[in-house]
Amino acid sequence: MSEVIRFGVSLEKNLLLRFDRLIRGKKYTNRSEAIRDLIRREMVKEAWEKGGEVAGAITFIYDHHQRDLLNRIMDLQHDHQKIILSTQHVHLDHDHCLEIVAVRGSAGDVLELADALKALKGVRHGTLSMTGTGKETK
Ligand code: NI
Repeated sequence: MSEVIRFGVSLEKNLLLRFDRLIRGKKYTNRSEAIRDLIRREMVKEAWEKGGEVAGAITFIYDHHQRDLLNRIMDLQHDHQKIILSTQHVHLDHDHCLEIVAVRGSAGDVLELADALKALKGVRHGTLSMTGTGKETK
């Protein structure tokens, strides 16, 4: 393990209070641990964005009563079928559907599809989880 260096961080009080609440909720034992994780996550993201194939899942919940939403979701999925491995649909309750889309492709393509799905009116709480496959696409 390389040498550990301490450094100071200046933040607005309110932002720090919110950060503390956030990391308590995520069960971090201290701020250093949380900040290290944030930094690592950003670095992994940067590596993905520079090329490399990624695999992951786009998960989202939507209101299936929303007009035209189903068609828009379907259109997006057809437009991105090269990176979609499979789609799982769950009818959660009377109003809501949950969809899990397994993807594999360049990070740019995967992010584009995830952002487009999350931006649709009526889609709530979309998340993307990605991991590297170790292959380079560029
Ligand atoms: Ni459904």
